[in-house]
Amino acid sequence: MFTSRPLRRLLIFYGLLFGAVYAGAAVFSTSAHAEYGDVIINNYSDQAGMRPVIFPHWFHRIRFRCKVCHTDLGFKFKAGGNDINMLKIFDGEYCGACHNGEIAWGVENCVLCHSGKPGERTRVHNSTADRLVAPVDRKPQR
Ligand code: HEC
Ligand code: HEC
Ligand code: HEC
Repeated sequence: MFTSRPLRRLLIFYGLLFGAVYAGAAVFSTSAHAEYGDVIINNYSDQAGMRPVIFPHWFHRIRFRCKVCHTDLGFKFKAGGNDINMLKIFDGEYCGACHNGEIAWGVENCVLCHSGKPGERTRVHNSTADRLVAPVDRKPQR
């Protein structure tokens, strides 16, 4: 039977989605944690029962020019400011422009991207904004 390649990928995706969401803790026990400068993207993940996405910005910046992502691929300069979902990624948009098993490992590696701690909000990890809201142990000024 003939099945187009995108369709086959989509079917595999939904198989994996089902497996990943229902296999629960066992699948996600190898979670990474965000490092300085990483972007945590959690517009939809938590609600969908997936861990938030950690995008290691520095790792990518040393490999590609800013223009590749922020001009050619259209990533807006704002943590969480892009409406990303898996269908778009499957269609080769956003992360899917590279994570397609050709330029970089493919989309079936769910936990390599969905590696954040559940409930982590969308932000740049340890950004200036983060530090502003963190409690500071300082004596009152005189
Ligand atoms: C491989 C793709 C990629 C490359 C290369 C890249 N970025 Fe990004 N950048 C992203 C993504 C993805 C985000 C987060 C967008 C989101 O959360 O929707 C981001 C977010 C940002 C932000 C917003 C952070 C914030 O505070 O909200 C800035 C600023 C930025 N990038 C600057 C740069 C600069 C400067 C370069 C080159 C030195 C660069 N980026 C290279 C993908 C890339
Ligand atoms: C311009 C191409 C490009 C885009 C766009 C891109 N990546 Fe990557 N990414 C790569 C390459 C290349 C690697 C290294 C792959 C390898 O080591 O085989 C990588 C590696 C990674 C890694 C592993 C980092 C490590 O420490 O090994 C993660 C996590 C990741 N990408 C997440 C994302 C997410 C999430 C997005 C979308 C928000 C994204 N990437 C968009 C090219 C890209
Ligand atoms: C290359 C990185 C990457 C990989 C690999 C990846 N995702 Fe995602 N995924 C994302 C990004 C980025 C988002 C948007 C995150 C957000 O806003 O919460 C997302 C969102 C989602 C969502 C919520 C939106 C939607 O499309 O329904 C689900 C569910 C999801 N991913 C499941 C999966 C599953 C299951 C796998 C493995 C088959 C997977 N993802 C692999 C990057 C990735």
